[in-house]
Amino acid sequence: MKSLTLVKLGGSVITQKKLSPPTVNEMAINRIAKELRAHKGPLIVVLGGGAHGHQAAHAYGFGDSSTSPEKLLAGIPLIRHNMTLLSLEVEQALNVNGIPSVVISPFSSVSMHHGVISSFPTDIIKGALEAHCAVIIHGDVCLDDVQGASILSGDTISVYLAKALDIQRIFIGTDVDGIFEEDPRVNPNATLISVIDSSNKDSVLAGTGASTAIDVTGGMVQKTQELFEIANQTTHVAIFNLTAPGRLTALLKGKSTTCTRMNF
Ligand code: IPE
Repeated sequence: MKSLTLVKLGGSVITQKKLSPPTVNEMAINRIAKELRAHKGPLIVVLGGGAHGHQAAHAYGFGDSSTSPEKLLAGIPLIRHNMTLLSLEVEQALNVNGIPSVVISPFSSVSMHHGVISSFPTDIIKGALEAHCAVIIHGDVCLDDVQGASILSGDTISVYLAKALDIQRIFIGTDVDGIFEEDPRVNPNATLISVIDSSNKDSVLAGTGASTAIDVTGGMVQKTQELFEIANQTTHVAIFNLTAPGRLTALLKGKSTTCTRMNF
């Protein structure tokens, strides 16, 4: 599909990650919806969990290998409820801003095996894109035939779809400018890496710090590792600061902006 673009909206940007009960960041969502209008063509928007996903997941013991399947299963309704609320807020903002969109929830069709996707049908996603709808897919909790239930992160969804569909551009929106030589939350003077290629890949992985707020899906190291798998000559990948107005617009328009690009 020509110019198919995937944008991941980091949960820490579209929700108030440290507020409980979970609260959406309406201002950010509305601004992002306006920025997304810069893209003319098929669009997939992947939502991270932020407060809506991570708080409930943490409360039910996701991310802790000693949690029983019963406890994980008991967490399904609350996580699903919160993620549904978040996804509907984003859907409404996109529709109001002239981007017809639909939400597709992974729970309804994705199966997992020991935390790894075992089945993820994409026909409905392709069909919705062909029907000129932007597709919103959110991080979710899914049934797992080994551990009862598993968290499927927005980053894992992005990587999976990059392999399953012909996606040309993947823009991962976070609350930092990109990937730094050291964790910027620990060292505010850390240097931003503007390009990662085979020459600096290993040293980059050694330096990326873990996310500070509750994050049951592995923080920055896992995100970076997963993205390395998909960046190549046909799939362009950039990690950028979605809290900084205008950067998403610049990326969508193919203009230069502060970010980390992956070139392999
Ligand atoms: C987490 O997705 C999904 C749930 C906890 C349900 P992500 O791990 O992609 O979320 P963020 O962007 O880090 O918040």
